Amino acid sequence: MASTTTEWTPQGWREYPLAQSPTWPDAEHLARIERELATKPPLVFAGEARRLQDQLALAASGRAFVLQAGDCAESFDESSADVIRDKLKVILQMAVALTYGAGVPVIKVGRIAGQFAKPRSDDVEERDGLRLDAFRGHIVNSEVFTKEARRPDPDRLLSAYHQSVSTLNLLRAFTTGGFAALSRVHAWNQEFVANSLEGKRYEVIADEIERALQFMKACGIDLHDDSALQSVEFYTSHEALILNYEEALTRRDSLTGDWYDCSAHLLWVGDRTRQLDGAHVNFLRGVSNPLGLKVGPTMGVDELRSLVSVLNPENTPGRLTLISRMGHGRVSELLPPLVEAMSEDGRSELWTCDPMHGNTFVASGGQKTRRFDDVLSETSQFFLVHQALGTWPGGLHVELTGDDVTECLGGGSRLNETDLAQNYTSICDPRLNATQSLDLAFHVAEYLQRYATPIGERSL
Ligand code: PEP
Ligand code: CO
Repeated sequence: MASTTTEWTPQGWREYPLAQSPTWPDAEHLARIERELATKPPLVFAGEARRLQDQLALAASGRAFVLQAGDCAESFDESSADVIRDKLKVILQMAVALTYGAGVPVIKVGRIAGQFAKPRSDDVEERDGLRLDAFRGHIVNSEVFTKEARRPDPDRLLSAYHQSVSTLNLLRAFTTGGFAALSRVHAWNQEFVANSLEGKRYEVIADEIERALQFMKACGIDLHDDSALQSVEFYTSHEALILNYEEALTRRDSLTGDWYDCSAHLLWVGDRTRQLDGAHVNFLRGVSNPLGLKVGPTMGVDELRSLVSVLNPENTPGRLTLISRMGHGRVSELLPPLVEAMSEDGRSELWTCDPMHGNTFVASGGQKTRRFDDVLSETSQFFLVHQALGTWPGGLHVELTGDDVTECLGGGSRLNETDLAQNYTSICDPRLNATQSLDLAFHVAEYLQRYATPIGERSL
């Protein structure tokens, strides 16, 4: 088991069993790339990660809500400014719907600028009798089904770093350079969303926000002076799966002397790599970033208790977010004992809902898909569980894109199985498109109003 008594080092994970690892064909090539990555500048700063942790602590105490969203797997072939901008737009729109509808601050965390690695259920994929290595995300290999394309290539670690740099650079420009100013709330409505029911509903809120801003201006308040209205705090996150990459970007903070994984603000442990005695848990326990832990249907109460005590030994609020992903058919049965155990133990962890990963199935045309209604059902049950236990439903974790894709069924776009082939571009799991994402945000804003009283407002 990951012992907290041995001194932690960034390379210590190498002594533990490593799940979900590609078989790199050339160890020397990999080592060379690791050394090169270790000389590169950090993507994020420790102070930013601490700021996110402080905000997550607010959510853990029922005073804020987290929206964590983005691709299942970012693609090396889809890195244009338009793609990044449209993803950001839909996340900002969802945050507006949530903030306006529910009156709680929304902490915005992208699955972006580093979300390149995928755990897989099978190590190999078979098509027409040909068996090849599974696709593990663009940081490892390509989704193209040839022997050459599927061979893990260490140069991809460097490409992932460089794409993360340019994505983050653009995100920082968008979020602080005027694009995200609240006065542009109308401009975030994408064309195809603006023509939908959800887009029209959003326009009503945008009108009201605009009127409120005009009122403030008429009262003599200088809106240009207020950074909360002019810019948005946006954080990055990804699953810490390829530890060679994470180790190379782990640096000691000069202010505190603590280790930070500077590849993203928040790193999470996937449902398939959360073994207590495994390399991933051992690596993440030693970095001081805020962490996430996926909590799937096989998680037992004792296991969760051990994991939280390893990943958050001081029970620090904001340090650890538990991301429930049970599936709509089982969440009401499986989640309550886990939430109850955490409450009983006086734990500070924040609970969020990933209504995507427990609800994937293969459609008749062969595409992986999810039903919007199942996503909604798991989300509403998550809220009901927390209402019944008096705990705070702290956030939503979703896979989405700003593009008008046809990957998930139903929702605002009313897609059916025959529509899936029209514009299915995900290289891994099916994502909500912009209309479906906004539709979900409006529902969640309603659940927040109906089922959740911010803990700060409860009468004692
Ligand atoms: C993911 O978030 O993309 C993922 C693979 O999730 P999980 O670990 O919950 O299966
Ligand atoms: Co996924």
